[in-house]
Amino acid sequence: MLFGRYFLFLTVFVGLIVYLALPYMWTSSQERSFETIKGDPERGKYVIRVAGCVACHTDSKNGGKFLAGGYKMQTPFGVFITPNITPDKTSGIGGWDLKTFSKALTQGISPEGSHYFPSFPYNAYSKMTTQDVADLKAYLDSVTPVKTQVVDHDLTFPFNQRRGLTLWKWLYFDESPLKGNSNKSEAWNRGAYIVNGPGHCGECHTPRTLFGGLETSNHLSGVSKSFAREKIPNITNAPETGIGKWSESDLSFLLQVGMKPDGDFVSGSMGLYVREGTGMLTPADRKAIITYLLDN
Ligand code: HEC
Ligand code: HEC
Repeated sequence: MLFGRYFLFLTVFVGLIVYLALPYMWTSSQERSFETIKGDPERGKYVIRVAGCVACHTDSKNGGKFLAGGYKMQTPFGVFITPNITPDKTSGIGGWDLKTFSKALTQGISPEGSHYFPSFPYNAYSKMTTQDVADLKAYLDSVTPVKTQVVDHDLTFPFNQRRGLTLWKWLYFDESPLKGNSNKSEAWNRGAYIVNGPGHCGECHTPRTLFGGLETSNHLSGVSKSFAREKIPNITNAPETGIGKWSESDLSFLLQVGMKPDGDFVSGSMGLYVREGTGMLTPADRKAIITYLLDN
């Protein structure tokens, strides 16, 4: 009996120590080197469209300034409000160097060393090439700085605890680099990179476990009700349930203007991503995405 009580005490005590130490218990398995890399803002201006950053970091519905944040993401855990990523020194990310930026984008770690919530899709961005990350940073440095009020997310306990994210990362964060497939065409490989890296399609189109990890065995198979309460279609090449019967031009049209074969337009988060992202892709990149989607 006495032992039982000690045991409980010990468990709580050890639990508390682990909890307090958690933020510092994450080490990335991927270290990038930037020494020989030079970012090109012109290329970055394109990468930002592929990666859909503008859709989340601009509050376009309420007339928010370009990349100044304030876009609200409703989830069962509360509301995430995206931060300002213009180069303003106090409310934005001005003054961050490339390494700090890359750590945020590809490892989900803030300059203070705490974890970002996976509502910032760094899980997919961890697959981005170092050149793309550097180009993106060079472009972000060149946009107009906007000063904003810094607002915190409105999350319910315990989901507002960043420490708990160490556990999430241990369970679900996969930052291993993408493997190319030499048996497939260059377009297919480019498509695989866009879909699984910057395009972060799976972050929405792949179902999640109860705690928000991606069910990798159900890659791109759709979600009946996402955290944002959207119905997200299956975009595997399954003929009946997925997009297997869509023609290349159907898919190209969808990515370019958001129109489905039945004449309806996509809305919600996809509508936003088409408008602020995929609609601006080159025909070659659209074709690459389609090549991969129809053959994977
Ligand atoms: C699906 C929406 C979404 C997309 C797409 C997205 N972000 Fe974010 N981003 C967020 C959220 C939410 C946060 C806040 C995370 C947190 O507080 O833990 C965030 C945080 C950040 C931060 C940290 C800012 C700070 O002040 O600490 C940076 C930098 C950032 N995003 C850059 C980008 C870039 C660059 C892209 C495109 C490659 C991008 N984001 C795409 C939602 C998004
Ligand atoms: C932010 C979440 C999000 C991201 C990221 C996203 N999608 Fe979507 N997608 C949706 C939603 C939601 C719909 C349904 C929209 C509707 O029907 O109004 C959708 C619909 C689609 C459709 C139409 C399918 C059908 O059966 O109607 C295709 C194709 C598609 N997405 C492809 C992609 C590709 C390719 C990517 C990555 C390059 C991508 N999506 C990234 C949320 C997303």
